Amino acid sequence: MCGIVGYNGKNKAIDILLEGLSNLEYRGYDSAGVAIRDKNIKIYKAKGKIINLKEKLENKKLNGTCGIGHTRWATHGEPSENNAHPHISNDGNVTLVHNGIIENYQELIQKLTKHDYKFYSDTDTEVLANIIDYYYKKYKMGPIDAINRTMVRVRGSYAIAVMFKEYPDEIWVARKDSPMIIGKNDDGTYLASDVPAILKYTNNVYYIDNLEAACLKKDKVIFYDLNGDVIEKEIKKVKWDIAAAEKSGYEHFMIKEIYEQPEVISKTINSYVKNDIINFKECGLNKRILKDIESIYIVACGSAYHVGVCSQYVIEELSKTPVRVDIASEFRYRKPLLNKKELVIIISQSGETADSLAALREAKKMGVKTLAIVNVVGSSIAREADYVLYTLAGPEIAVATTKAFSTQLIAMYLFAIELASAKRRIDKKEYSRLLNEIKLIPGKVQTILDKEIKRIQKVASEFYSVPDAFYIGRGLDYAISLEGSLKLKEISYIHSEAYAAGELKHGTISLIENNTLVLGIVTDEEIYEKTISNLTEVKSRGGYIVTVAPKKIDVSKVSNYKITIPETIKYFYPSISVIPLQLLGYYIAVSKGLDVDKPRNLAKSVTVE
Ligand code: BG6
Repeated sequence: MCGIVGYNGKNKAIDILLEGLSNLEYRGYDSAGVAIRDKNIKIYKAKGKIINLKEKLENKKLNGTCGIGHTRWATHGEPSENNAHPHISNDGNVTLVHNGIIENYQELIQKLTKHDYKFYSDTDTEVLANIIDYYYKKYKMGPIDAINRTMVRVRGSYAIAVMFKEYPDEIWVARKDSPMIIGKNDDGTYLASDVPAILKYTNNVYYIDNLEAACLKKDKVIFYDLNGDVIEKEIKKVKWDIAAAEKSGYEHFMIKEIYEQPEVISKTINSYVKNDIINFKECGLNKRILKDIESIYIVACGSAYHVGVCSQYVIEELSKTPVRVDIASEFRYRKPLLNKKELVIIISQSGETADSLAALREAKKMGVKTLAIVNVVGSSIAREADYVLYTLAGPEIAVATTKAFSTQLIAMYLFAIELASAKRRIDKKEYSRLLNEIKLIPGKVQTILDKEIKRIQKVASEFYSVPDAFYIGRGLDYAISLEGSLKLKEISYIHSEAYAAGELKHGTISLIENNTLVLGIVTDEEIYEKTISNLTEVKSRGGYIVTVAPKKIDVSKVSNYKITIPETIKYFYPSISVIPLQLLGYYIAVSKGLDVDKPRNLAKSVTVE
């Protein structure tokens, strides 16, 4: 969704805002804008990426030390300079930036129009500026009163930063459901949608909760609840460092994050495996709780959902616990049949995806325990879940997830093993065998990064202009095909489908013709012959087959091109076979000269419905 940033302190705000917006650009890049307060408030906006705004500001003397900024992912109103943020109230009394969606904005436009307010943009956000101004003028009780009345009146999700004409050295903020963190150091106070935007200046942050507001002064932050009473907040230290949020010499964040996988997979394993024992104590889970779980419901979006599909196979086979998997946007309105002895697991990199957050709240409303697998510390899903297993991928900037996906798989494997052990479905010997194999995964990922790049680049250079592609496999290979296919679609814009290999002949095989690119994932020794015969059916229709398989599986009869992956235990192959699939998507997108880190129409975390 959009990214917002703000600074109030001793230094020139413009540099800090532009730096912050560049670090938030993965959240949306339809337009950008800043409002800088010097003697009065100056607003600059530009359509498209931050670079367009930077060019516009080149010769501008902006010495103001207080300002707010925004990078947009358009929802209401097309990408344009007029619809770009910051937006102002009719007389310029209120200037604000907003991340989220105001659901009842049409109704508010009618109300405000009756009070002679006029609107220049197609956005829901401009309504916010005017409704705050309306309450500010009607009740004359100052900013906090106007903001709190607005929070009571509007429906939807928002993180806002507001500047009032009559309060020169202050930035006011408020949030509901959209993410926001507030930072502080000796040079001033900061606000941002996400940590990487201000990590260069401080890792001392406050977490502002839903329906809370705050006033950022040059040297302190004052927090308020919905009654307008001052509330105390504890400052927390973020463990991420700035290097993690930079490209470190790589051409794109995505390839940097792909190469970080061995390290972050190790970190995630080591954070939960101590002396060859899995320890979930920190997140409050223990064998007694796990033993009583009768069934599991995994809910997520995008790639996180694919982690859920992979996990279903592993959890069911190891712990004999029934698992359902659902897309969060369906789960939240499906009125799911849950029982109190069930565990709902929400998987989310950002911890802010609106559908996943709503699914979590739905489960809680039904009195069902929730476990969140999350990468961003202090995010909404992490704070609202009963149990949280943090993945240690570090900040993930590229819109298409890679390293967070891999650490989520690890967290789910460890969960499956601990559950199976708690239910005495596996004995100590099997427990150690599985754990020992998991510890070898980082090295095996490294082997692919060391040995297979050239072969994958060759496939990419030959196939980057194909109109479509198919990914097929059985069992866990089918599950990981879903992710491989999504990676290609997300960043190369090639239409692609993942299919259960056995299902192809019931329709979709009609799409296979000469040289149609088909990726065959073949790792499972128990069923690979079935997959081979499905690939044979594809080959006989002229499909060009690229296989991803370990050495010991003979795909020579069907494979036009083989990418060899290291061997492992069948449950853990998704962690290995996904790597060449990530790389193939990446190199095809690079071959097409596309913006790999910021693919069109996508955003890193979708905080609206
Ligand atoms: C999309 C991202 O917006 O949201 C995907 O582009 C991601 O990469 C999906 O998988 C879900 O996000 P999250 O943060 O809930 O895992």
